[in-house]
Amino acid sequence: MGKKGVFICIEGLDGSGKTTQAVLLTERLYKSHNAIYTAEPSHGKTGTFIRECCLYEKKRLPTAAEALLFAADRIEHIENEIKPALAEGKMVICDRYIYSSLAYQGSAGLSLDWIKTINSHALQPDFGIFIDVSPERVLERLQRKKSVMETLETQQKVREIYMKFVEKGELIKIDGGKPKDVVADALYSKVLSLLKTVT
Ligand code: TYD
Repeated sequence: MGKKGVFICIEGLDGSGKTTQAVLLTERLYKSHNAIYTAEPSHGKTGTFIRECCLYEKKRLPTAAEALLFAADRIEHIENEIKPALAEGKMVICDRYIYSSLAYQGSAGLSLDWIKTINSHALQPDFGIFIDVSPERVLERLQRKKSVMETLETQQKVREIYMKFVEKGELIKIDGGKPKDVVADALYSKVLSLLKTVT
C-alpha cells in the first residue's frame, strides 16, 4: 500500500492553539485536498490507554515507559489510520507526531537519539509546522485545563527542543502569538506554498 496523499504534522506547546489551527486548516483544505484531521495520542487502544492512565495521573510511569507507549500508539495510528488515508490520496493533518515525543520526552531527560530509534518505524511527514507561542503566554491560557506536563520550566524546555528542529529546517515555524484568524491565514498560505514543494 504505497503513499499517495500528503502527510503534515502540526506541533506546538499545550495551549498554543495548535488543535484549533489544525482543525481550521483541515476545514480549509477539505474540499480542495481531501484533508482529514487526526491527532496523537490517537483514539486507538494504546492512545486511549495513554489518555486514561498517563496524562492526568499524579503517579507517572517512568519517562522511558511513556516514550515507548507514545511510540507504540504512533505505530498503531500509522497502520490503522494514516497509511490507509494516504493510500486513498487524502491529505492527513496530524495534531502532534514524533516531534512531540522528541520535545516532551526529550525535555524529561531522554536522549533524542533513543527517541528517534524507538520511532524508526514512523512514517516521515512531508512537512511539519511548529505553532510558536511563548511559554509564559501558553501558561496564562492554560489556567483552567492543566495536564501533568504543564509547568513553566517544562514548557521552556519543550520549546527549546522544538526550536532545535526549526533551526535544522525540519519544522517550519509559524508565529502563534497573533489573533486566531491571522495565525490561520498565515498557516494556510504557508501550507499552500509548501505543498508546491511536495512531489
Ligand atoms: P494534547 O495535544 O494536549 O492533547 P489534548 O488535546 O487531548 O489535550 O496532548 C496531550 C499531552 O500529550 C501533551 O501534554 C503532550 C503529550 N505528548 C507527549 O508527551 N509525547 C507525545 O509523543 C505526544 C503525541 C503527546
